[in-house]
Amino acid sequence: MKKVIIFTFFAAALYACSGGEGKKETASAKPATPAVDGEKIYKTYCVTCHGIAGDMGASGAFNLQTSVLPLEERINVITNGRKAMTPFKDLLSEAKIKAVAEYVEKLRH
Ligand code: HEC
Repeated sequence: MKKVIIFTFFAAALYACSGGEGKKETASAKPATPAVDGEKIYKTYCVTCHGIAGDMGASGAFNLQTSVLPLEERINVITNGRKAMTPFKDLLSEAKIKAVAEYVEKLRH
């Protein structure tokens, strides 16, 4: 009798595990573009030079409120850096760089 109970337990555990795995796979496959918060990234990496509003200008940082740089170029500056601005390609993923580049636009006046 004991054996039957143990077997049933294992069978149930096995079933639960395989079911769980299957679910996990479909879940991780679905959100291909996880929500990256551009504002959060900006406040973490960019405020030291550009300031919360984008116009602080520390280390000669460009005033992002008056920047007219198109998105592609902004991504390029953030990725590879420019003069005193450090490159972020080793710190941030492509998706995060794009998100923060899009956020910078909101600082414009
Ligand atoms: C070490 C200070 C520093 C940090 C940190 C920094 N920047 Fe900069 N940034 C600069 C400087 C300096 C320039 C101007 C470069 C030049 O004169 O060529 C600049 C220029 C830019 C420009 C170009 C603006 C234009 O119109 O030409 C963008 C966009 C930009 N920064 C975005 C960001 C973002 C987004 C972050 C955070 C991921 C960031 N910066 C972090 C110093 C910094």
